[in-house]
Amino acid sequence: MPSQGTVLVTGGAGFIGSHTCVALLDAGWAVVVLDNLSNSSAVAVERVEELSPGDLTFHRVDLRDRAAVGAVVDERPIDAVIHFAGLKAVGESVVDPLRYYSNNVVATVTLLEVLREREIRDVVFSSSCTVYGDPANVPVAESAPLSAASPYGRSKLFIEEIFRDLAAAEPGWRVLLLRYFNPVGAHQSGRIGEDPHDVPNNLMPFVMQVAVGRRDRLTVFGGDYPTPDGTCIRDYIHVEDVAAGHVAALDALDRIEGCQAVNLGTGTGSSVLEVVQAASKAVGADIPFVIGARRPGDVVATWADPSLAEELLGWKANRTLDDMCADHWRWQSTNPDGYR
Ligand SMILES: NC(=O)c1ccc[n+]([C@@H]2O[C@H](COP(=O)([O-])OP(=O)(O)OC[C@H]3O[C@@H](n4cnc5c(N)ncnc54)[C@H](O)[C@@H]3O)[C@@H](O)[C@H]2O)c1
Repeated sequence: MPSQGTVLVTGGAGFIGSHTCVALLDAGWAVVVLDNLSNSSAVAVERVEELSPGDLTFHRVDLRDRAAVGAVVDERPIDAVIHFAGLKAVGESVVDPLRYYSNNVVATVTLLEVLREREIRDVVFSSSCTVYGDPANVPVAESAPLSAASPYGRSKLFIEEIFRDLAAAEPGWRVLLLRYFNPVGAHQSGRIGEDPHDVPNNLMPFVMQVAVGRRDRLTVFGGDYPTPDGTCIRDYIHVEDVAAGHVAALDALDRIEGCQAVNLGTGTGSSVLEVVQAASKAVGADIPFVIGARRPGDVVATWADPSLAEELLGWKANRTLDDMCADHWRWQSTNPDGYR
């Protein structure tokens, strides 16, 4: 397949990054991965190469190391950048905000300065539905008011603002801010998947670690919310759909000007108990759980209005919650300790 061009993927060894690298290689892109492996493993990159042999190079580099980032970018012509690298644990960001502002915001500014010096201005950035705070209306459209409840969320919001300011100040930048809802699941092969280094913050990896025997039971944070079954509702989206969204976003950069935010979600919400039920079906056994206290800061119910993604990127999620659970379980059961 003729090369589409070369894309620099920061954070390409991580959960969403590794799946996106497979999708990019499958679509004929050459891929340059830059990752410091602070929350990932080089094995993930090896498995990406196994799943989709192609033109991939890997550099273990911290994004805040300007000279090292410059050296990677100078090694070969880069056509576009997908910027995943960042820390993402909400609780940890409350305890150590400076680490988050340094690793997420300062690192992004460093990357953008390096890119600007070389006139590389096509960027796709990993934003999050967390920038909508506690939305007044669902489904949430891109025009909804922005706010954030944690240093992690604010780091995403600040970075979005930086991109908007930059695109307004300097012609030529073409930036898609992809606001992911809740990526879960794993590659259908079961070879790559989410491998949190610490106790998982998110529901699905926790549920799957219970299923595989690494944890005793799940604690559901709150069973008395004003939802049909009393538990919080989120828009879970298969990571392979998210990966496909990035390939579509790169193709769409030619059609946009300046900076544009786009939701990546399915448009459907599922409650915690619905996820536990779907996961139990995929695993073939009940997932033990208890209902605990509400977790401070949790939003009651949110799901995406994904119509702009379809209009602008020609992309739409098509995998179901059952697909997400089946694929996540295939990964977890065949790799009970992740990449270790
Ligand atoms: N997973 C989600 O639920 C979710 C939701 C919304 C947004 N996001 C965002 O998407 C991006 C990817 O998320 P993920 O789930 O794949 O997380 P991840 O932790 O698996 O991947 C992030 C990658 O970035 C790398 N990294 C972190 N700081 C770095 C630095 N300073 N220099 C170089 N590499 C660095 C890590 O080693 C890791 O491989 C993140 O920016 C995250 O905030 C994730």
